[in-house]
Amino acid sequence: MASSVVLGSSPLPRHIGIIMDGNGRWAQRKNLLRTQGHLEGLKNAKKIVKAASDLHIPFLTLYVFSTENWKRTAEEVGFIMGLVKQHLKAELDFYRENRIRIRHAGDPEGLPRDIVRELEEACEDTRSFEGLQVILALNYGGRDAIVRAVRRRLASLEKEPLEKRVPEKITEEGIRGGLDNPDIPDPDLIIRTGGEYRTSNFLLWEGAYAEYYFSEVLWPDWTEGDLHSALAAYQERERRFGGRKP
Ligand code: FPP
Repeated sequence: MASSVVLGSSPLPRHIGIIMDGNGRWAQRKNLLRTQGHLEGLKNAKKIVKAASDLHIPFLTLYVFSTENWKRTAEEVGFIMGLVKQHLKAELDFYRENRIRIRHAGDPEGLPRDIVRELEEACEDTRSFEGLQVILALNYGGRDAIVRAVRRRLASLEKEPLEKRVPEKITEEGIRGGLDNPDIPDPDLIIRTGGEYRTSNFLLWEGAYAEYYFSEVLWPDWTEGDLHSALAAYQERERRFGGRKP
């Protein structure tokens, strides 16, 4: 169904991050297994990716699986990993047709080898596409990303002569340069569905000045119209980045 929300003329976000929450509750409310909720969540992710692509949004980061999600049952974890693998295999044509580039954020160490292979292939196959860039946050944690970024920076400093390895070399720019995708601009808008009001370790560094938008709607029910409402709300925000209005 077409959305009735009219977007204003103010700029849309260049980069949107989404915490796709509520799959489990969606399933519970329908007396279904949690895994069924994830299946519907995946179908919905594809719809929202297409909607973002149609709006010419340049970057969309989806929080697929966090470094904390390993605490879930082996069955649920295995199911989500299987879904991701299946999705990357089955939907390459969808990404190709829409010129969408797939990227990964998160630690590949700790992910099953077959998932890493599938991710690498999908990233490689879509590398040249100039449309929407979809960043799949998988085995992703904001704190973990910062720790790995600092380690990368330290590793690069180790190549310098001893007298140049001073603490002042650890700068914001240096840490940013060590993130998984340092070329991607910070998110302008972070959306969380499912009625919870927390960041859950998502884009901690990059989200320093993001606008947050919380929706009560559970992820499998979150529509293109809901995305438009989030964007319309974003267009109303006044962003000052810690400064004052001129
Ligand atoms: C949270 O719901 C959602 C997740 C843990 C992510 C699962 C996401 C997908 C299956 C979509 C993947 C998309 C792509 C494009 C690969 P929850 O289980 O925490 O819900 P609850 O809070 O209601 O229990």
